[in-house]
Amino acid sequence: MSRVAYVNGRYLPHGRARVHIDDRAHNFADGVYEVILAVDGRMVDEEGHMVRLARSLRELDMPAPMSDRALRHIMHQTIARNRVKDGMVYLQVNRGTAPRNHVYDDGLTPTVVCTARSVALPRDADAAPGVKVVTRPDNRWERVDIKTVSLLPNALAKTAAAREGAYEAWLVDDGGFVTECSSSNAWIVDRDGRVVTRPLGVDILPGVTRDRVIALARKNGIAVVERPFSVGEALNAREAFLTSTTSFVKPVTQIDDTTIGNGHPGATTRALLSAYLDFTRRASVADAA
Ligand code: PDD
Repeated sequence: MSRVAYVNGRYLPHGRARVHIDDRAHNFADGVYEVILAVDGRMVDEEGHMVRLARSLRELDMPAPMSDRALRHIMHQTIARNRVKDGMVYLQVNRGTAPRNHVYDDGLTPTVVCTARSVALPRDADAAPGVKVVTRPDNRWERVDIKTVSLLPNALAKTAAAREGAYEAWLVDDGGFVTECSSSNAWIVDRDGRVVTRPLGVDILPGVTRDRVIALARKNGIAVVERPFSVGEALNAREAFLTSTTSFVKPVTQIDDTTIGNGHPGATTRALLSAYLDFTRRASVADAA
């Protein structure tokens, strides 16, 4: 079946879907986006993603392109028209199209693009392999809490990581503390078995998966501490992992040249992945009811 993309009011064959060369996202990365997990054709944590999208728009002085309900309808339609059961839906909102000028006019018509694709979900938390990550300096701008399409440092860092055979780049601030990863949030399990991740602020993206995993951890009696952790602490941690919509809860078993723990995915990470996978299945059933 051929893929279909939504662009500004029309559902088009993916290969013919286009935005204008004067779109401000093309010239200035002037756009925001969301990537949402679909399970059994339904979006997981839809509410959290919509709240974050609204916040990104607000922070960048962009008007909402249409009602929340209309945006959700487009995403549901894009999932259905692509016959996606388990997969991802991608929504991008750009400020609009205008002759290239740094100064933007109010009242531009926003560009809205939506695509969806199938992705196999992990079925068995205990079978999830561990991955290697490498550390890189965090050289992004100072508002990475806003989910903009301005992702060049992220793309460069993740490509450098891939060229070193790593799954992700863990980004490190000037003080030697891990901020997050190029496209996911970073976590460790400390010597006391507590799960540690950097607190929300302008220096990390407020991951929807991060929020969900914190809630699931607490529900399962696992202590969570939101505080910065250094690369040194991560190298000596019991376990490490990362989270995102597309990576779920991913065990990290090597950071640069150092093996983490015993080199195998740890029990806490596996428990959190298992709880997260259960949640995604329940969420899709609950939505259907
Ligand atoms: N990335 N940090 C960064 C820099 C990210 O780009 C992402 C998501 C996350 C995790 O957020 P969430 O749990 O809401 O997916 C953290 C998406 C998946 C992407 O750009 O493809």
